[in-house]
Order: sequence, then structure tokens, then C-alpha cells
Amino acid sequence: MKSLYFLTALLQIVAIYAQNNCNPKFYQCGGQTWKGSNCCNPGLQCVKINDYYSTCLPSSSSSNTSSNYNNNNYNTNYGNNNISNASNVQNASSNSGPIGYASLNGGTTGGQGGQTYTVSNQSQLESAVKKNEAKIIIINGIIKLTNDITLNSNTSLIGANKNSGITGAGLHFKNVKNIIIQNLKFSYCVGNNKDCINAQKSTNIWIDHCEFFNDRNHGKDYYDGLVDITHACDYVTMSWCSLHDHYKVSLIGHSEKNAAEDTGKLHITYHHNYFKNVGSRLPSLRFGTGHVYNNVYENVESSCVSIRMSAQALVENNVYRNAKRPISTNLDTPEEGYVIQRNNDFGNTANTNSITKIGSLNTVPYKYTADNTNSVYDIIRNKAGPQ
Ligand SMILES: *[C@@H]1O[C@H](CO)[C@@H](O)[C@H](O)[C@H]1NC(C)=O
Ligand SMILES: *[C@@H]1O[C@H](CO)[C@@H](O)[C@H](O)[C@H]1NC(C)=O
Ligand SMILES: *[C@@H]1O[C@H](CO)[C@@H](O)[C@H](O)[C@H]1NC(C)=O
Ligand SMILES: *[C@@H]1O[C@H](CO)[C@@H](O)[C@H](O)[C@H]1NC(C)=O
Ligand SMILES: *[C@@H]1O[C@H](CO)[C@@H](O)[C@H](O)[C@H]1NC(C)=O
Ligand SMILES: *[C@@H]1O[C@H](CO)[C@@H](O)[C@H](O)[C@H]1NC(C)=O
Repeated sequence: MKSLYFLTALLQIVAIYAQNNCNPKFYQCGGQTWKGSNCCNPGLQCVKINDYYSTCLPSSSSSNTSSNYNNNNYNTNYGNNNISNASNVQNASSNSGPIGYASLNGGTTGGQGGQTYTVSNQSQLESAVKKNEAKIIIINGIIKLTNDITLNSNTSLIGANKNSGITGAGLHFKNVKNIIIQNLKFSYCVGNNKDCINAQKSTNIWIDHCEFFNDRNHGKDYYDGLVDITHACDYVTMSWCSLHDHYKVSLIGHSEKNAAEDTGKLHITYHHNYFKNVGSRLPSLRFGTGHVYNNVYENVESSCVSIRMSAQALVENNVYRNAKRPISTNLDTPEEGYVIQRNNDFGNTANTNSITKIGSLNTVPYKYTADNTNSVYDIIRNKAGPQ
């Protein structure tokens, strides 16, 4: 009698365990270092993404992507994604304009057609940025700042060479349109906003071939963000930048309480950026729409792409090396975000993904060419940052 009781209890435990086991954490159901279950709940199937990562996707929807992922073969066409060589490598001296969301809404041209001003100290820079006209401001050398610089519309701010930029404070702009920030080095940004770039209520922003760094000797909150884009900014691209030695890198959408202002805004593209020796927010995206492709994440302490508060993101052809939590939709948030990920190389950190909601951002409304994942690490190491 006693042994029958124990047997029944044991069977119940096994049944409960099996049930939970079939709902794998973070939807991951396979991969080289995966130790969890290989099954998925009814209606889902385990789809192999690469050697390191398989995920539970709906069995009979457009999300049945097993053919599209083509397993280990990255060289596949999927949506608009025409994978070839680094044919879209841009250089800072070319006038080709942004790829991504900054190319929409009339495009982002900065000060094109306006006067050019070359500056090499704070007072020159302050008087150039105030001019109420289209203008191209060339910064020659590193300018030490005592406070943040405010930009107005139709401005290009460009470094003269690979050792030009600002240090000690950052850039701030609000209620403006059409900004290009290119080829500049930003460091030790402890101005009034404690961000290297702080953008609010602004549209058409292109940040390209820049370098951003602080240090990690002062704790997480001594500096704030490297590039923080908030309060319903829209049509933003960050490309070919190097961001390193910092904690909270790029916050897109500052608060979970800001739905009324941010919903339907905050469209942003990150491509060909190098995130190294950093903590988190690569980016953190709330409410908005993000396309994150061809970036390298190396030595990331806490988390990489964090999509929350119903934001949608397409995350593809990125490379992760020693990077914790490559993609999450449920991190520090009362409401999850949505992600489609494909062709990413998670290295040995795939188990820590937490994509709890499969998204709907499958294609983006602009042309782009994603580089083959296998070549991304070398391309980014050689070409990201000022030139
Ligand atoms: C998913 O797609 C593959 C390739 O097209 C097909 O072989 C498979 O049967 C599909 N699975 C389901 C559950 O629809
Ligand atoms: C992809 O790019 C190559 C090279 O630029 C081009 O020849 C080809 O037609 C493109 N394919 C598609 C499907 O766009
Ligand atoms: C791609 O790159 C390789 C190596 O640099 C080169 O040999 C090849 O011609 C390139 N292919 C195209 C289509 O540009
Ligand atoms: C960069 O752009 C300039 C100006 O358009 C061009 O002359 C140069 O060949 C380009 N360099 C590379 C590496 O593409
Ligand atoms: C800034 O540079 C200009 C041009 O070289 C010079 O005339 C001016 O005195 C400098 N201002 C300061 C505050 O150094
Ligand atoms: C920026 O440039 C556009 C196009 O020339 C112009 O319509 C607009 O008024 C400018 N904005 C400001 C604030 O000067």
C-alpha cells in the first residue's frame, strides 16, 4: 500500500517534470552546449538556427523558417536580405547617405548644401552650432568641453581625421530634424546629461563612423549613456561606430511609463557597430522598432540586445563573442518585447538567449545588404570607428 502511494507520487512528479521540460526556457531547444530539453509545447517545433542555437517556433505559420534559416548555411536569401560581400561598406568621406531608418522620412542630409565651418576649440564650436542655417561643421582635433553642446536642425558635425572629436562632455539636441554626426571620437562625457549623445523629440539622425568610450573605474552611474535616444525620436541610424569601455551603452526609450509619447516612434537601425568591453543596452529598445544587423558584440558583461515594452526588432547576421544574453525580450521589464532573429553567430553563449516572444518584423522598408555573418568580425574590426 505504502509503496503504491510512493509510486503514484513519483509518477506524478515525473509527469509534472516532463511537462515543464517540454516548455524549454527562453524557447531554446537545442545547440552544442544546450543541456535542457529538446522538445517544444504542442503547436511549436524545434527549429535549428545554427550549431549553437535552436528555438521553438510555431509549427504551421510563416514562422516555420527551417528552410529559410538553412541551418548552418548563412549564404541564403531571406526577405530583402541580399547577402554578399561587404558591398555596402561606406566610408566617412563619401556622401552616400545612411542605410536604414534614417534614409526614410525624406532622408538625412545634415548640413548638405550649407556653409562649412572648421573649428578646434569650444568657443568656435559653440558659435558654429548656433547658426540658424544648414551647416557643415568640421571638428579638427579633440576639443575639451566644459558643458554639453546643443545642436539645431540641418547640421553635419564631422571629424577632420581619425583623431578629432570632443571630450569631457557630449552633444544634446531636442525638437530638431536632420542631423549627421560622423567620424568623431567621444570620450569621458560628464556634461549636464552625462551622455555622449542625448537626443530627444528629434527626427532623421545619422551617427556614423564614430567612436565612443568612457571608463569602467567609477561604477555604473558616474556616466550615463554613450548614445541615448528618447522622447519619441524617430528615423535614426547608427552605423560603423565603435563603442567600448562603458556600462550602459545605448538606451532607446527611457521609461516603461512613456508609451503615450513613444509608441509608433523610435524606428532605429544599428548596423556594422563594434560593442566591446561594455555592460548592457546594445541597445535597450522600448516601444520602438529596431533593425540590428552586422554588429559585433565582444566581452559584454550583462546583456546585449534587449527588446522590451512591446518593441519589435529584427536581429540578424551579428557576431557575439564572450557576450552575455545576446538577445532578450524579457529582461527587467513588466512587458516583453518581440524579436525575429536569424543568421546570428552566438559563439558559446547561446544558452543565455531569452527570446520569449517571436516578433513580426520580418522585412524592413528600405534596401540594405547584410554581410555574410562569417566575414562580419573582420570587417568590423578593420572598419568601425573614425577614419
Ligand atoms: C516547415 O517547413 C519545412 C520546409 O519547408 C517543411 O519541410 C516542414 O514540414 C514544415 N513544418 C511544419 C510543421 O509545417
Ligand atoms: C544580390 O546582389 C547581387 C550583387 O549586388 C546582385 O547581382 C543580385 O541580383 C542581388 N539579388 C537580389 C535577389 O536582389
Ligand atoms: C568577395 O570577396 C572576395 C575576397 O575579398 C573576392 O575574391 C570576391 O571577388 C568578392 N566577390 C564579390 C562578388 O565581390
Ligand atoms: C571613400 O570615398 C571616397 C570618396 O567618395 C572614394 O574616393 C574612396 O575610394 C572611398 N574609399 C573606399 C575604401 O571605398
Ligand atoms: C579658439 O580658436 C580661435 C582660432 O584659433 C582663437 O582665435 C581663439 O582665441 C580660441 N579661443 C579660445 C577660448 O581658446
Ligand atoms: C532645414 O532644411 C529644410 C530643407 O532645406 C528646411 O525646409 C527647414 O526649414 C530647415 N529647418 C530649419 C529648422 O532650419
